Amino acid sequence: MNPEFIEKLKQTVGASYVLTAEEDRLQYGRDWTRTPGIAGAVVLPKTTQEVSAVLNLCTEFKIPVIPSGGRTGLAGAITATERDLALNLSRLNRIDPVDTLGRTVRVQAGVTTQALHEHCEKEGLTWPIDLAAKGTSEIGGNLSTNAGGVRVIRYGMARRWVSAIQAVLISGEVIELNQGLEKNNTGYDLLQLLIGSEGTLAVITEATLKLCPPPIHSRAFLFSLRDYESLNYVYQKVRSAPFILTSFEFFSDKCLRQVEAKLGRNCKLEKRGALFALIDVEVGPYPQEKDKMDQWLSDLLDAGKIEDGLVADSSNDQSEVWALREGITESLQMSGLVRKYDLCVPVKRCADFLKEAEALYSNLKTKSELFVFGHYGDGSPHLNFLNSEGLSPEIFHSEINQFEKELYPLLKKFHGSVSAEHGVGILKKNWVVYSRSPAELSLYRAIKKAFDPNGLLNPGKIID
Ligand code: MLT
Ligand code: ZN
Repeated sequence: MNPEFIEKLKQTVGASYVLTAEEDRLQYGRDWTRTPGIAGAVVLPKTTQEVSAVLNLCTEFKIPVIPSGGRTGLAGAITATERDLALNLSRLNRIDPVDTLGRTVRVQAGVTTQALHEHCEKEGLTWPIDLAAKGTSEIGGNLSTNAGGVRVIRYGMARRWVSAIQAVLISGEVIELNQGLEKNNTGYDLLQLLIGSEGTLAVITEATLKLCPPPIHSRAFLFSLRDYESLNYVYQKVRSAPFILTSFEFFSDKCLRQVEAKLGRNCKLEKRGALFALIDVEVGPYPQEKDKMDQWLSDLLDAGKIEDGLVADSSNDQSEVWALREGITESLQMSGLVRKYDLCVPVKRCADFLKEAEALYSNLKTKSELFVFGHYGDGSPHLNFLNSEGLSPEIFHSEINQFEKELYPLLKKFHGSVSAEHGVGILKKNWVVYSRSPAELSLYRAIKKAFDPNGLLNPGKIID
């Protein structure tokens, strides 16, 4: 990388915040998917003004720049090359006091999701986006990818919980979007445009986040189920139940066994079916609400669709069952090379889609294993392939590529999306055409050009 550029970077942020050692360039040049990447250099600014000065330098020297945070992404959206500067925002980690009247909090991009939750909890409020990666994922990344998580069915995606964004354009200009207003119908909504743009349009440095009170009491159900018919049956029953649903997650027995084997966690259910549903609901304060829920549960059990089940009321018991679901990604990562698909189909067709996708997998006759889990209630299953038999990476990838060629047309048949929540990055770029029309993609290109005429911001991500 140009030595004069590096020198100017050092003058801007301080020499110790410009990293050029190979291990740092590797660490900051890739995300959790471990898609090969290495940055030319890494810069760690502390303030918006420093971010602005860095982007200004990138424009002057024509250096491509890749913004990143906790690097927990799963689409290769921060994968760098030696030509690129990795701009990491983790040092921008200020959290302002909660505005309890407006129910908002102003935070910088590098604040972790968990730190935000802990900060707001003291005021009896929460930012309701809850992610398995919450200890590491950062707000800037959550917004750039429009993170979802396990409570989308109740609260929606990250974009619903933002009322202002501060961002820096590639020219170095700082823009303030929406100023924390609840209502603002003055033309195009650039704040929403930046959310989910994966760092290709501007660098998010701060945000005002909307908060809400957490449920007073919640209850989790873990059900062991025979098949997708039973899963869908339970989902229908939950949808017409007399309580508020917060999560409807599912995972296969294979996922559970992986979590038990790799993370030493333990599922208390004795009778295991092929699938599990993990359901989280809000429990109202009145005894009659609890009675209604008990009646609902007993009717469900009488229907004979559930192999085994447990109810978790205490927060300890709930953490224990949630750890089974939240440990899936980590247990797979620990086990070898993984290829991940985060899809979305209309929820009423989710079971049919999964059955057809599994049939495609069976036809493949591969030695790689399929792990199915995800956000059933959002119609958003995750299909993960693990190279458990140690196939050569070439054979593994070519087999999965073969599967992919059949999976995406199937997805199109179900009117699905190639990415429900992880985003496009580089990993799904070739498949965006299955989710977006040519007219949409030409608007994408025009928007990208308007924000970043020289193509320096996270180039090659989402679209070419
Ligand atoms: C999850 O649902 O656990 C996350 O999206 C991560 C993953 O898909 O591995
Ligand atoms: Zn997910």
